[in-house]
Amino acid sequence: MRIGFFDSGIGGMTVLQQALRFLPNEDYIFYADTLHVPYGEKPKEEVREYIFNAVDFMANQGIKALVIACNTATSIAVDDLRKKFDFPILGIEPAVKPAVQSCEGKRKKVLVLATNLTLREEKFQNLVKSIDHHDIVESLPLPGLVEFAENFEFREEKVVPYLKEKLSSFNLKEYGTIVLGCTHFPYFENSIKKIFPEEVDIISGSIGTSKNLKRILETKNQINEGTGDIVFFKSGYKVEDKETLSNYKKLLVMLDRKSPLTT
Ligand code: SIN
Repeated sequence: MRIGFFDSGIGGMTVLQQALRFLPNEDYIFYADTLHVPYGEKPKEEVREYIFNAVDFMANQGIKALVIACNTATSIAVDDLRKKFDFPILGIEPAVKPAVQSCEGKRKKVLVLATNLTLREEKFQNLVKSIDHHDIVESLPLPGLVEFAENFEFREEKVVPYLKEKLSSFNLKEYGTIVLGCTHFPYFENSIKKIFPEEVDIISGSIGTSKNLKRILETKNQINEGTGDIVFFKSGYKVEDKETLSNYKKLLVMLDRKSPLTT
């Protein structure tokens, strides 16, 4: 059986690319809910319905595990999805813990970049409360990056001015770690690096999720010897047009060439 990857759009590809490194012989379904992206700017109940529809669809295809490769969807639905489906479901959370651990000793702050919905959710608020004992965690919603990614706009000359404007009131030297709390954001790692001082670390949670996925499949004795085949779906339709498929494959190659993030 295949492993399912789900996201509101192409952000989940940044997690799938990491999983392909750890589990190159698995076969995958990648489902992007492109009809309803962006999730991060919509009401929670509306987004929950989209997520459940998409996961129902994927479950009907037959999957042995599901990765919610979307921080927003994880924040609002992962616990309830686990109650409904009996395959393992992995989510992705902002890597706040390693960021706080690394910054506390350096007397630096942590900046979490995510969507509005993720940052407003109880899951994120509780995570920060349980870890951030010295008030060093700050956050900033960057919905424009989701839009750039969905438009396949990765050029630094477009992205850097947006980031500069959003960060204009921040003292960038105060930060030791930037946490990418949205799976669309690793596409823009180079642009983010350009804005902050050189020594700033940039981390995401996708390597941790991929390692967990491998561990779970090993424990359940469900490791496959497939070919790394990926079937793509967009909001319930199989992607068959050659141009989209080729663009998706190019994204995976582009991500593979980038230096891996550390967490
Ligand atoms: C979005 O659809 O707004 C982005 C989802 C995410 O958090 O990865």
